[in-house]
Amino acid sequence: MVRGVFITVEGCEGTGKSTQVQRLAEELSAAGLVVTIVREPGGTRVGERVREVLLDREHVDLDPRAELLLYEASRAQLVREVLLPTLAGGGVVVCDRFSDSTTAYQGYGRGLPLEEVVHLNRFATAGLVPDLTVLLDFDPAEGLARAVSASGADRLESEDIGFHERVREGFLHIAAAEPERVRVVDAVGTPDEVEARIARLVREIPVLDAVLH
Ligand code: TMP
Repeated sequence: MVRGVFITVEGCEGTGKSTQVQRLAEELSAAGLVVTIVREPGGTRVGERVREVLLDREHVDLDPRAELLLYEASRAQLVREVLLPTLAGGGVVVCDRFSDSTTAYQGYGRGLPLEEVVHLNRFATAGLVPDLTVLLDFDPAEGLARAVSASGADRLESEDIGFHERVREGFLHIAAAEPERVRVVDAVGTPDEVEARIARLVREIPVLDAVLH
């Protein structure tokens, strides 16, 4: 199978993730690459419907296991409808969140059994693993304040600070376990400063380094 390049961007709330996804995609496009941007949950017609269910503040009674399966449902659809065909065609995909978010939020945050979460991630992704994961690290309390003041709190953002601190710890555990794939980027600073840090990492992917120079 011809493989493109699959980059994911991860982090807690309010880390500036979506801005950096856009900027990274623009940089890669400017170098002549065909870049597809997607987000999770969502990225497909079905996935965007699932996203509405997941983020709706009225769904306070959503069971953690049902929540986990809905994230995996959105992901399974995205993988088969968009990611695998795009990567098979040699395209570059930048994805705003992927399975590490499930491990961090539903595994570490909610406290669901990690081995089952990892197993379901594998089921949903058919084993697809990013070539590079940029983990934007930022203080959860500050990030939350930023995210909530920007758009009002959704269901996940309404969780207490302890939840978001566990999520951050979860992400850092994942990064420590897979340091080659998951690169921690300090998200403190201006968007330009963070962008420059990410640009350096992306150049460490040989196939991208060749076109970005
Ligand atoms: P976003 O606001 O960054 O688009 O992400 C939507 C929310 O869903 C965010 O609070 C993180 C959460 N989330 C999970 O809890 N598990 C997951 O697997 C994913 C992809 C996101």
